[in-house]
Amino acid sequence: MVTALIVAAGKGKRMGLGYNKQYLLLDGKEVIARTLDVFDGLDFIDNIVVVVAEDEVDYFKKNIIEKYGYKKVTKIVKGGSERQDSVYNGLVNCCNSDIVLIHDGARPFVKREHILKSIEMAKKYGASAVAVKVKDTVKYVQGEFFEKTLDRNFIYLIQTPQTFKYELIIKAHEFAKENGVIATDDTSLLECLGYKVRVVEGSYDNIKITTPEDIQLAQLILKK
Ligand code: CTP
Ligand code: MG
Repeated sequence: MVTALIVAAGKGKRMGLGYNKQYLLLDGKEVIARTLDVFDGLDFIDNIVVVVAEDEVDYFKKNIIEKYGYKKVTKIVKGGSERQDSVYNGLVNCCNSDIVLIHDGARPFVKREHILKSIEMAKKYGASAVAVKVKDTVKYVQGEFFEKTLDRNFIYLIQTPQTFKYELIIKAHEFAKENGVIATDDTSLLECLGYKVRVVEGSYDNIKITTPEDIQLAQLILKK
């Protein structure tokens, strides 16, 4: 069974809307609904588990699930205070899955081909993540000076989906919990255990809607 685990339990502080950015309307439709549209429509996704903030569960059910009638959403799980906690709460509700794709609710422009590729690579290598090569020159800074220039051919910006064999990702999360490891993404937790994660070249359009500038960018991507 292939499960999409969509995390949407953040606060959207950097967006500064005063409400969770997942409910921001882009051309009349909520960001989270646009994300769910993609996964609900894919024949190779068996079910969807969505993680939402505890005080938004009722709102989410009524205004997203009932409104759009998603067929594949089998569970709505309460989130935690950090993203990692939300992912963990979701994962313990995916114990019948062989493959889990962890995806940010705030990335509505993810493409079918990259989701499919991430599943294929996770089946083959155990773990994969969609990423894009950096376009700018990247430098390492120490104090107020540039220390060195990194070879940008080796630098990628990581996105989601990040896709795993279930037994690997749950093991990595359990390890992190026991050892107080905190990371901003899930592949980092696998790296702690010495596993390699396969790169899936993605698209620059797969932005995470994070700050107010991203809204204009999102509108441009939508028009494409
Ligand atoms: N997320 C979550 N639970 C949290 C924090 C984040 O499910 N406790 C989710 C967000 O809803 C988002 C994704 O993780 O879809 C990526 O996180 P981010 O872009 O940081 O979203 P927020 O945490 O909501 O934004 P901010 O950090 O600006 O408050
Ligand atoms: Mg956050």
